[in-house]
This record gives sequence, C-alpha cells and structure tokens, in this order.
Amino acid sequence: MHKEFETFYHRFQELTEKNEVSSVSLAKGIPIVQELISSDLWFRDFIKEALIERSWLKQQQSTLWPNELTIYRSPDHSFLVRAYIWEPFSMDTIHDHGSWGIIASFINGIKEIKYRRRDDGAVAGYAELEETVAKVLKQGEITCVLPLNAGIHQMGNMSEEIAVTINVYGRTMRRGYLQFFDRERRTVKRVYPPRTYKEVLMVRTFGAMGSGEDILKGALVNPLPDYVKEEYETAITVSKRRVP
Ligand SMILES: [Fe+2]
Repeated sequence: MHKEFETFYHRFQELTEKNEVSSVSLAKGIPIVQELISSDLWFRDFIKEALIERSWLKQQQSTLWPNELTIYRSPDHSFLVRAYIWEPFSMDTIHDHGSWGIIASFINGIKEIKYRRRDDGAVAGYAELEETVAKVLKQGEITCVLPLNAGIHQMGNMSEEIAVTINVYGRTMRRGYLQFFDRERRTVKRVYPPRTYKEVLMVRTFGAMGSGEDILKGALVNPLPDYVKEEYETAITVSKRRVP
C-alpha cells in the first residue's frame, strides 16, 4: 500500500473511531479526502499492483456497480474507499445509498444531479422526485451524500475522456440492496448484487407461475437475510392469488 494512502486511512480511522465523521457531519472528513486526491501516485500504485500481481483482481466478486473498485475496507467496517471508473458518456441510474458518502472528482470532471423525494414512501414501488441540484464537479471538487432518502442522486461522465471518482462510504445502515428510481415513470425498485438478483428473479418468477407456495415456504427455512425473506413472502402471496 502506498504511503500517502496509508496516511489517509489512518487519519480517517481516527475520525470514525471518535465518531467525528458520521451522517450528522461529514465536515471533518472532507479535507482528508481532499488531501488524498491531491496526488494520483497512490492510485497509480494501486492499479499497478492489481495488474501485475493480480491477487486483487482474483479476489473481486461481482458487485451491483460493475465500474467500482474497492480499494480499502476499514477493519471495524466504519468506512470503505472505492474508485468508480466512468467511461465516456456514461450515466448511472438515479439511486439512494445505504450509508453516507464523500465523493471526490479525481480524474476529469463528473456530473451530479441531486434529488429530493416528494412522496412519503407509503405506496410500494411509487416515488416522486424533484431535482434540487445539477452540477459538474471539476477535478478536485467534492460532493456528499447521506443515507437513504437524504442522498438520492445520479452521476455521470458527459465527456469524451475516462473519469474517476474516489468515494469514501461510511458504516452501512441498510445492507443488501440499493433503490433505483425512474423519475418519469415515478417508480422505485430494489436493486441487488448479481447473485442475490438471480435468486430474487427465480423467486418472483416462481411466484408469478403459481402453485409454488410449498416450495417457496420450504426454501424459507434456509438462513436468509430479511430483505430476501421479504421477496419470498411477497412471492408466496402472489402465488396464492394466482388462479391455476
Ligand atoms: Fe451514488
């Protein structure tokens, strides 16, 4: 690990241990991230190691965002550092987060649009969004997000060059999925990492095919996270409603 990066994560760790960077205030974390992105030597070293030694590449599991590289996880899970590589003219889907985040435009600029949720979330699958800020962050500029509805945004690279952001995320308060929003259709849906997504798709399909309650209930005896259990329970209800 490059010396500059080591200095960064030690300093950041001190802050999270004292609870001085949290959803309440990210102010003390921002200058430390700013210092990290003032040089790209540590990032060059990180890529060099990944490409030459290949052990980092081999450890990678497929994640919800294919363009993300996890660079560091703090041992106490209080923060993690990721790089996102943005291909030219690429935009992500409007989404929320399970934790706070400090996001730095590291190589080239990046566009961010922030949204405010106008509905109360009472209707499943429905969401009304209002755009609040749209800005291109120049290299070296920082934006922040908060967990859940307080941090709905969309980012993208509107240039012909590759762009990189360095994202520092806090302790996860909602694990397992993100929410993707479709502003025009006024919808919101859960999005899972690839392996969970395959399971969820099978569960939903089995529910929609009908007569699957016993098998779905049988599979529910496996130890599953709550958000996956919810998918099974919804599918059981759908399956029961279905007239053979
Ligand atoms: Fe995000």
